[in-house]
Amino acid sequence: METTKRCFRVDRRQISYVKFILEAYDNVAVMSTLDSREAVIQVTIAPGCETMVDGIIQGLAGEIGVMPVEGAPAAGMSGKQAIRMPDKMKQVEIEPKGSLFQMKEKLLYISTIGCQMNVYDANQIAGVLAPMGYTGTDTIESADMVIVNTCTIREKAEQKAFSFLGRLAKIKSANPSLIVAVGGCVAQQEGDAILKRMPHVDLVFGTHAIFRLPEMVRRIESSRCRIVDVRMSDTIEFDAPVDGPLTDGQISAFVTIMRGCDNYCTYCVVPHVRGREASRHPDRILEEIRMRVDRGVREVTLLGQNVNSYGNKEGLCSFSELLARVNGIEDLGRIRFTTSHPKDLSDELIDAFGRLEKLCHHMHLPVQSGDDEILKRMNRRYTRSAYLEKIDRLRAVCPDIAVTSDFIVGFPGETDRQFQATLDLIETVRYDGVFAFMYSDRPNAPATAFSGKIDEPTKKRRLQALLDLQGRITREKHQAMVGQIRRILVEGPGREMESGDADMASSRVQWTGRSSSNHIIHFAVPEAQRDKKELLTGAFADIMIEGAYAHSLRGRLIDGPIMATPGKGETSVAA
Ligand code: 5AD
Ligand code: SF4
Repeated sequence: METTKRCFRVDRRQISYVKFILEAYDNVAVMSTLDSREAVIQVTIAPGCETMVDGIIQGLAGEIGVMPVEGAPAAGMSGKQAIRMPDKMKQVEIEPKGSLFQMKEKLLYISTIGCQMNVYDANQIAGVLAPMGYTGTDTIESADMVIVNTCTIREKAEQKAFSFLGRLAKIKSANPSLIVAVGGCVAQQEGDAILKRMPHVDLVFGTHAIFRLPEMVRRIESSRCRIVDVRMSDTIEFDAPVDGPLTDGQISAFVTIMRGCDNYCTYCVVPHVRGREASRHPDRILEEIRMRVDRGVREVTLLGQNVNSYGNKEGLCSFSELLARVNGIEDLGRIRFTTSHPKDLSDELIDAFGRLEKLCHHMHLPVQSGDDEILKRMNRRYTRSAYLEKIDRLRAVCPDIAVTSDFIVGFPGETDRQFQATLDLIETVRYDGVFAFMYSDRPNAPATAFSGKIDEPTKKRRLQALLDLQGRITREKHQAMVGQIRRILVEGPGREMESGDADMASSRVQWTGRSSSNHIIHFAVPEAQRDKKELLTGAFADIMIEGAYAHSLRGRLIDGPIMATPGKGETSVAA
């Protein structure tokens, strides 16, 4: 039996939304052609589904404005004519946006708990819901919809999500039309148990369901049904860049390059709630970064649970090759990435630090423990000495590289001697910063069934000892930076200084930026430079470090040009 085709055009900004809506249905194939203003969409419909798809297209016409392409069959037209795409997109005239339909503005409050991946997802969520008329609000009370973007990496994060959701019950009883949605890792893990436990929740959507959100929200808006969608897929079904909102003056953005994890560390819930590792196509990643750069972003952080295995499965380019392509993006100033698994940190990537001028001199390389036996039971698949070798190689290629790490204290069976090996590793590496966590059991993680659980007071004591040690190292390292000049990317004005300084306080304008090594540096703009201060956000500036704090540094904008164009990496000049 023959297929039927429909063809129509939409404003270019609606393309992700339209494709998402149509591709959510089986038996429909969607093709699109884009120019700078609009998209022509061609839908191929399997026999028997014409009425349903025409209904969807007509719904879209009412919502966002869908215009038929002359000479081609549009929604509602019968017949199985061949599609004629316009020869040149620019020949097609578009009607002013909103002429067919005035969308009611609705307010969306997104609460995000957890890692950068969740921050990125929140932006995607805002991006896919924007065409439905949702714009962000900072107050829950004014919202038409609240989305809680949850995290379950450790028990505390999950508790936080449930306690926030609990508080929403009261708000919903005062405003019954409020839509309450739960997304992210807790949603994936708990599924419909959340609906059962929390009658005020309307929607539970998992980590792979973001692009199905508009359709689900639309159904809830029209029929107030309750929906759970925790379907997962081994591949990335929807890869189109979403133009999520940017805050005013935002100069740094996250871009997910892959999702999921296949490493199965025995303590970790991620493979169970984020699914199998899958990489995005490099062209889509570059497109998304360019889109952000066009809107003023100067720094991107490429995100993945294990960026070192980027592209392996799909036979795409390697992570280092991807970095080289990103490095070539004009007007992008800096590239960061996280996270690297030590077992997969390749020489090729290490060499990239010597080769790519936009790649920041910072490597986050979570080690988790300094003891080989614990590493084995964590299923980390490297040894302490192999890890130390990689650090040595990194420092040989890039002597000023900052190295940070994650640690888990109190893993089941961890003895005092094994914990001591972790402290010893910290002394050996002399990290620039660490994140340390007390081990907690997670659903489906094998270590939950391990014997030898460590009691809470011991875990707390070990955590404190680790943080005290690292605190001393950080202070010493910060102190050693005093008197050096660091190039920073200026993030903006506004942060309070950690302690008083006569000069800084009197300057009133206090700015913040980050060095290539990811150190936060506060600085004052000298009197003579005040007139240039509007040039600063998003620019590179050289700062003389004058003071060291526990978590940041303080300095002075030195004389010399304030560069509005990206400079090379970071200069570190001893004074
Ligand atoms: N308990 C404590 N910390 C954990 N992490 C991951 N799973 C657990 C757990 N079950 C930590 C690891 C990881 C970081 C993101 O969270 O250190 O690198
Ligand atoms: Fe979790 Fe290990 Fe994967 Fe990191 S590498 S997300 S710790 S399973």
